[in-house]
Amino acid sequence: ATANIGVVGLAVMGSNLARNLASREGNTVAVYNRTYARTEELVNAHPEAGFVASESIDDFVASLATPRTAIIMVQAGRGTDAVIDQLVERFEPGDIIVDGGNANFHDTIAREKRVAETGIHFVGAGISGGEEGALKGPSIMPGGSAESYETLGPILASIAAVAEGEPCVTHVGTDGAGHFVKMIHNGIEYADMQLIAEAYDLLRTVGGLEPAAIADVFAEWNNGYLESYLIEITAEVLRQVDAETGNPFVDIVLDQAGSKGTGVWTVQNALDLGVPVGGIAEAVFARAVSSKPNQRAAVQATIQSRPDVQKASDVAAFADDVSKALYASKVVAYAQGFDAIIAGAEKYGWDIHKDKIAKIWRGGCIIRAQFLNRIADAYDENPDIATLLEAPYFADAVREGEAAWRRIVATAALSGVPVPGFGAALSYYDSLAVKRLPAALVQGQRDFFGAHTYKRVDKDGVFHTLWSGDRTEIETEPSTH
Ligand code: 6PG
Repeated sequence: ATANIGVVGLAVMGSNLARNLASREGNTVAVYNRTYARTEELVNAHPEAGFVASESIDDFVASLATPRTAIIMVQAGRGTDAVIDQLVERFEPGDIIVDGGNANFHDTIAREKRVAETGIHFVGAGISGGEEGALKGPSIMPGGSAESYETLGPILASIAAVAEGEPCVTHVGTDGAGHFVKMIHNGIEYADMQLIAEAYDLLRTVGGLEPAAIADVFAEWNNGYLESYLIEITAEVLRQVDAETGNPFVDIVLDQAGSKGTGVWTVQNALDLGVPVGGIAEAVFARAVSSKPNQRAAVQATIQSRPDVQKASDVAAFADDVSKALYASKVVAYAQGFDAIIAGAEKYGWDIHKDKIAKIWRGGCIIRAQFLNRIADAYDENPDIATLLEAPYFADAVREGEAAWRRIVATAALSGVPVPGFGAALSYYDSLAVKRLPAALVQGQRDFFGAHTYKRVDKDGVFHTLWSGDRTEIETEPSTH
């Protein structure tokens, strides 16, 4: 038994993570894959890694020094359970099983409960950063017991990305907390991507710019307050030219966005938690709409005409407006994501430090950006703020961008450019900002048809109006139906 860490599942994420582990001082890495050919392939391609390879799961377990620590990197779902069972059969109390896949946190909670009964630690760890992150330094969001983190923490810190001198890993909370936070990360990732896509669409349609010119705009934005990995790679994607046709790459890609589920989970869970995450939800729905070619074709065949595009007269000024609308909408999406983290922590009993989450997202992960320092500062200063939008930095940013944000949403609406992300974010902001909401009328309607009752602005108590009688008001108990 010579290895201090093992990796099960050697597809590209697993292989890269194993190589990352092996490249760090002090690690000896055991590797195992269901089909041995893949293990051989990895070991032969990377002799420098000094992998301890096993053909059988028994040999793999025997190659691990105690407490045994193995990271499972197989596709989330049933495959994960099969590997967990194999390891549980062979591991001893105190050993640690880590699931590094994109598991549903509800599954992680159940798995942790089941495995913990054997005395073995089970840790669901969100790992973000794609293939390159796994190899060079991801952002890691481990859950599980604090005790397991004592062994696991230093190993994960050795391979995590480093942002401003700090490794991008923290013990998020117990059982499923890590996978929960990874899920929210992905929800925010969806929103960020959708907002960037809308900005591109506006620059092209209203701004009249070609993809290569838009790439320049994004590259420039990446030097300012919008600096982020997603902005950076957007510039690269937009600059790409299709070798076969010579057309911009973005024009030869079918405009139907796929997804693997984490964005949908974010929204499903936010609905259950009662947290409005419209910015994230619209990003998920935007992918769904794009993937409905029949409905799109049906409407396109039915319409008589499309509105005239309100072409930008001053493209530089227009691009500046778009950047401000993008930033303000992004602030909303992050505020909503953190609200979901707060609600999840409360419901599932996790002690999640929001500032630490913001910090481990500064490097390694897909949403990495300087901007997360501002979120960390806001929660560091006051962990109990009602919303990120009240933190002075963000309040100022939104105030400064507000007029541009409104111009952009209005121009998009007049021009027929869909901006579900910008629009939902602005409506959310206005809903919080306005003194009175028409929710009062909704309460009236509910009371009319279902005697659902209402409260008054001018006195305590619960009331119902006898709508089908003489329409007088009575004081009553809150409706339960
Ligand atoms: C990451 C990514 C990664 C992946 C997701 C999203 O943090 O490294 O979020 O987990 O790209 O699977 O994929 P979909 O867009 O396919 O849902």
